[in-house]
Amino acid sequence: MTVNPTLTIADSEIGVPPPAPTPGAGHPELRAERLRLAYGDRVVVDDLDLVVPPGRISVIVGANACGKSTLLRALARLLNPEAGSVQLDGRAIHSLPTRQVARQVGILPQAPVAPDGLTVIDLVGRGRSPHQTWWRQWSPADERAVAEALAATGVTDLAERPVDELSGGQRQRAWIAMAVAQQTPVLLLDEPTTFLDLSHQIDVLDLVVDLNRRDGRTVVMVLHDLNQACRYADHVIAMKAGRIVAQGQPASVITTDLVDEVFDVRCEVTVDPLTSTPLVIPTSRHHPRSGVTAAGPR
Ligand SMILES: Nc1ncnc2c1ncn2[C@@H]1O[C@H](COP(=O)(O)OP(=O)(O)OP(=O)(O)O)[C@@H](O)[C@H]1O
Ligand SMILES: [Mg+2]
Repeated sequence: MTVNPTLTIADSEIGVPPPAPTPGAGHPELRAERLRLAYGDRVVVDDLDLVVPPGRISVIVGANACGKSTLLRALARLLNPEAGSVQLDGRAIHSLPTRQVARQVGILPQAPVAPDGLTVIDLVGRGRSPHQTWWRQWSPADERAVAEALAATGVTDLAERPVDELSGGQRQRAWIAMAVAQQTPVLLLDEPTTFLDLSHQIDVLDLVVDLNRRDGRTVVMVLHDLNQACRYADHVIAMKAGRIVAQGQPASVITTDLVDEVFDVRCEVTVDPLTSTPLVIPTSRHHPRSGVTAAGPR
């Protein structure tokens, strides 16, 4: 893998459709069938079918607690289904050896916790462990992958710092570097832009596009910003109460009715002048459609 260490907005291909992936051309297929996920007696996801578009960027959107992280963790084999299955290239992921899954599917969890005192470079190095064996511990390829991942996420200067002493945004980028260094063909990112300032949000999302367009990685990420979701997704998956209520291209999924149904928010959906993707403008009690607020016209 080659990661471009100097990401710029101009380099990104936002709004440019990716080349259609050739079915079976090196993109592992990840799918869920009749998936039921539960914590004890509480069923969180039920009867969910999903085929993750191979070689594309999919973005999951939905209200807090609707089951996005739960689904992502099941797709990464971190959570066993109560019923149904997750399949990787047609084989039940829960029956596959851990190392085999870890070489194919990488995940950035929503709230990862690093061991006390672990440095950034050691954290990112852990992303390489699925590629190591007892006879091949650490190689120049590992070295390269770690250096590239640090550079791509802008944390090279933080390499020797303990993760638990970083700011929220720095820490988030260190974790993204770990997932990037794993070099898996499937990358699952749970709210990768949390804690990041606008500039770093754009950098990270552009990096995701690079990993997809250049390296052909399949990406599934959870985002709360619907406008960023529309800009960056080839495929949007809208969830409500543990079910998928709509999926497809951003323009067909993100509508006023959908935002109302999923988020209980009235909005206007217009066209993003930069990318021609849907641009959601929410209303609120103080910002109703008429432009007249509770305090009078502004
Ligand atoms: N480890 C757990 N044990 C018990 N219940 C859990 C656990 N993790 C999540 N839940 C519950 O499962 C439901 C779905 O949680 P999940 O984290 O998947 O939501 P989410 O859509 O990712 O929400 P958010 O947008 O807030 O991250 C919630 O009701 C939550 O309280
Ligand atoms: Mg979540």
